[in-house]
Amino acid sequence: MNKLKLVNGTVFYQDHLQRMDVTIENGRIVRLDPSSISSEALSPSRSRLSQENHEYVMDCSSLHLFPGFVDLHVHFREPGFSYKETIETGSKAAAHGGYTVCCTMPNLRPVPDSRENLEVQREMIRQHAVVHVLPYGAITCGEKGETLADFEALAPYVVGFTDDGVGVADGARMREAMLAAKALGKPIVAHAEDLPLVRGGVIHDGTYAKRHNLPGNPSESEWKQVERDIALAEETGARYHVCHISTKESVALVRDAKKRGLAVTGETGPHYLTMTDEDLEDDGRFRMNPPIRSGADREALIEALSDETLLAVATDHAPHSAEEKARGLAHSANGIVGLETAFPVLYTRLVLTGKLSLERLLHAMSLDPAAAFSLSSVKEAKESIGIATGIEPGAPADLCIWDLNAATTINPKTFLSKGRATPFAGWTVRGICQATLVGGELAYEDPSWKERRLD
Ligand code: DOR
Repeated sequence: MNKLKLVNGTVFYQDHLQRMDVTIENGRIVRLDPSSISSEALSPSRSRLSQENHEYVMDCSSLHLFPGFVDLHVHFREPGFSYKETIETGSKAAAHGGYTVCCTMPNLRPVPDSRENLEVQREMIRQHAVVHVLPYGAITCGEKGETLADFEALAPYVVGFTDDGVGVADGARMREAMLAAKALGKPIVAHAEDLPLVRGGVIHDGTYAKRHNLPGNPSESEWKQVERDIALAEETGARYHVCHISTKESVALVRDAKKRGLAVTGETGPHYLTMTDEDLEDDGRFRMNPPIRSGADREALIEALSDETLLAVATDHAPHSAEEKARGLAHSANGIVGLETAFPVLYTRLVLTGKLSLERLLHAMSLDPAAAFSLSSVKEAKESIGIATGIEPGAPADLCIWDLNAATTINPKTFLSKGRATPFAGWTVRGICQATLVGGELAYEDPSWKERRLD
């Protein structure tokens, strides 16, 4: 009998933090009971607990149990670029950060633009993933912006369609994609970037770029394409999601679209919510696309996350080799890792400072993206008992367990990802993941987790 009991933790259940005992059997949560045992009484209760016939009883006093985090936007680099990351290292990094679901972007080799190509990736997921890994399909063949990918063949197996890494330059092609995606009930997930408007910019066209004489990427390179796409979404009735929003103008466009009742959502990333271009250093770990923008952009993003204009926080975990990130701001590859730092960074910088509630952060990192993208309906590569949409009786036990009192200084050498480039290196943050469970199985455990065993 596979039975596990997590006792005396603070559980995010029915939208409240409550002291509860969680009983897990055969991968599912079978019971949630108000904690019957006070911390002081845990030791004398050991014998009673072990009589209940559990395989394990874990003392979660002083720990928080959250629904497993869901990242709508990661790059696991396989097939094609295993020197940057593999499905194994990427999904282990995800579990280390409390994630139980990751949706992978299609800038791979081969690009998942046909069922045959997608199967190469799905086979690797089947063999190596330690969390749920759900792929996106490409919008266009080879992400070249020309012919549409085989939407019909891909649809049951993908979260949605995106050409992440590049914008879809041709509005007519985007329109065609929206109509095809709509017919299949799938979202179009847009990397909004108008290349000519980027004007070769490598960081935000703001204070730092001017001071250091670097080519600046203006905000309109993002929001002009968001504006075009929202008009197309309105015309076609497609479900449209904007990736990695970095500008206040895109926020305003999404806010307006939602007010008008359009099926439009958006995500932003931890770095856009906690940094501005004034914080940049001439180091590849500050280079990503879109770039970190101004203080006004950051404030607009925090407000939009808080008032639910933005659906989700997504990391855009985008690992590269040390060499690819060692060429300074001007010449490094675009992309930073994010899975192992997202929650502690946002908890420390937004929740503990009173800018965002913990409840809203948990929704944005887990419940809301899972629900809005109907993730449990995507056919998984790995056989599983399904994907949870929260901590509740009957749900698969997909959850993460945190010590929110513990502080740590972010050190990329401790990452399980192959990627090490993070702008958060050296930040002192609160929150250390103690364990992550996927379908009741440990996908990550802190070295101290075993010491909590009571039976
Ligand atoms: O910074 C980024 N890195 N932005 C993207 O759009 C692509 C990603 C990557 O694949 O490295």
